[in-house]
Amino acid sequence: MIEPYWQSPDRVATLYQGDCVQVMRAMPRDSVDVIFADPPYFLSSEGGTTCQNGKRVEVKKGEWDRKRGLAYMHHFTGQWLIAARRVLKPEGTIWITGTQHSIHSAAVAMDQLGYRLINEIIWCLGGGTNVYADTAKGVGLVKIKDLAGLDHKSVRLWNGEKWTQLLGVSRTARAGNELTITLRSGEKISCTPKCNFRTWLLHW
Ligand SMILES: C[S@@+](CC[C@H](N)C(=O)[O-])C[C@H]1O[C@@H](n2cnc3c(N)ncnc32)[C@H](O)[C@@H]1O
Repeated sequence: MIEPYWQSPDRVATLYQGDCVQVMRAMPRDSVDVIFADPPYFLSSEGGTTCQNGKRVEVKKGEWDRKRGLAYMHHFTGQWLIAARRVLKPEGTIWITGTQHSIHSAAVAMDQLGYRLINEIIWCLGGGTNVYADTAKGVGLVKIKDLAGLDHKSVRLWNGEKWTQLLGVSRTARAGNELTITLRSGEKISCTPKCNFRTWLLHW
């Protein structure tokens, strides 16, 4: 039995601190309704960069995030997903966060382990968020909402490792005039309804 790290006075909530695989192995089978996991994205590497709040910054989160190749990441993901599968009730739900670098390994591992994949939810960024873009005006920071007014064929986005071609800008089916930009990698980035879109430049 693993000792709780913290427990609420009414004993409704209990926190355990430790290797999640060991913690889950100590829990009864089929006992969990919902799992929410935010596992490492394995992005930290010498010279690796990302775009944070519009600035290019180094990724150095710690040893736990060190990039060690696809095989290592997939094995790591499989190990905790096996432990999670055992404790999750048959009608239980699991939510996993990730970046484009890690989430597909998680999706494949889930498929291999017999999970049922229902949805992929794309993070909704504000239209005022800057992205690092290569446009007809050159390389620099561009607000997502302003990408809508550009010829998408001349726009590429930098994800910290490589350039990806913008395939287009479209309206989502949701209310609020939301915009979604689609990249050749399959990623989609949406603007929130509060953005002041330059819709007069769009041709739907
Ligand atoms: C992407 S971060 C999650 C950050 C968290 N959502 C937050 O907002 O603070 C991944 C976390 O997983 C932890 N971690 C890595 N391997 C683990 C393991 N085997 N068991 C439990 N936690 C682990 C890391 O220490 C790191 O804090």
